[in-house]
Amino acid sequence: MDKLIIEGQVKLKGEVTVSGAKNSVLPIMAATLLTEDACIIKGVPDLRDTNTMIRILRALGKGVEFDKGVLVISSLKKTNYIADYKLVSTMRASFCVLGPLLGKLGKAKVSLPGGCIIGVRPVDLHLKGIKALGADVDIESGYISAKAKKLKGAHIYLGGVYGSSVLATDNVMMAAVLASGKTVIEAAACEPEVVDLADFLNKMGAKIKGQGTPTIEIEGVRCLHGATHTIIPDRIEAGTMILAALITKGDILIRNVILRHLGALIDKLEEAGVSIIKGENSLHVRYKKPLNAVNITTLPYPGFPTDMQAQMMSLMSVTPGITIITEKIYPDRFMHVSELNRMGAHIQREGPHAIVEGVARLSGSCVMASDLRASASLALAGLAAFGKTSISRIYHLERGYEKIEEKLESLGARVRREKE
Ligand code: EPZ
Repeated sequence: MDKLIIEGQVKLKGEVTVSGAKNSVLPIMAATLLTEDACIIKGVPDLRDTNTMIRILRALGKGVEFDKGVLVISSLKKTNYIADYKLVSTMRASFCVLGPLLGKLGKAKVSLPGGCIIGVRPVDLHLKGIKALGADVDIESGYISAKAKKLKGAHIYLGGVYGSSVLATDNVMMAAVLASGKTVIEAAACEPEVVDLADFLNKMGAKIKGQGTPTIEIEGVRCLHGATHTIIPDRIEAGTMILAALITKGDILIRNVILRHLGALIDKLEEAGVSIIKGENSLHVRYKKPLNAVNITTLPYPGFPTDMQAQMMSLMSVTPGITIITEKIYPDRFMHVSELNRMGAHIQREGPHAIVEGVARLSGSCVMASDLRASASLALAGLAAFGKTSISRIYHLERGYEKIEEKLESLGARVRREKE
């Protein structure tokens, strides 16, 4: 395993281009299971997670070529309907092959993804949705087995105790596109990545409307054909780069962003006294003065994204004042707190809240990444800290940030990789 060594206190300056969205490309790759035709997906980030999904699709009988950000996915031989444990357990997002396999083949056997460090990660809403469409579902030896002669459209309420579910909305949508009749999903997730998936499915011949609102309507069609699609930019990478500019007191032009996807973050940063210059599809962030401490509560889109909570905690840990961070999506998503405190932060966990008292400086330390966004928050803290920070287990970071070292180096950061 590798580790990342960062010499802090360098003001990041320059330009960076955001890659395609990890959380959009994964379900869109799964959606290609709904057709025998070839699909071409552009703007694909070269990530650990995209390469895991490539392996899963190949195991399910797809031919997959990936070169310079372009995926060509075709059908090689008889499609297999079993997504096995060793692949699904490495990336829970692979559970989103359930809906397309069931929709296309009438059967699917997918390993239960299990929990992860940020939470229990149940799948009850996924199962509720496919059962409503008429699937028989069994859980046996850690696998979900689902089958249905012909799925039938239904009216499904998909809200859970923590609000809407992104991948459950994706799974149900992909199961419903070939069902007979109309499906209505109430309390659907509104994330831009769900919209991108629906747009791709419509290019394949699906009849979906209402994506991006809590009510999505799907008119079942007989079959879907291949399509070409370009993935939307990764709003979480963009947000992480904005915070990198601020935490290092730098000045960065961030290209390839869709401004409306960053509404909650930009609003919160403007409340903190940051002025962000907005371009057509770019953002210019220049640190001018100390920020004000602001409180954060994570919510489903368009609320403040849980995937930016850890990174914002790093920024607030060096912002004068008291910040209360409330995590409403994954109440245990605070693995980064202990590591940030080891770097000199003053953060206290109280259930689903973290109370952050800004300190004047963080000190470089040896820390350990625990999950994707926690590792991003440690990298941000390392960029701001005095001295050297060594972040171990950076495979977590590589799951969701394409060429992160090169991007940071191009902005002037002193960062290098070392073998553990
Ligand atoms: C997606 O995960 C993202 N992953 C996550 O990003 C993101 O944090 C999450 O949405 C919330 O925005 C991908 O898109 C690949 P959920 P997902 O179902 O769909 C509960 C990252 O860092 N829930 O929207 O798995 C769940 O426990 C990753 O890029 C149920 O109760 O998340 C959580 O509390 C991490 N029952 C809440 O809903 C279910 O059946 C939202 O989870 C499903 C979910």
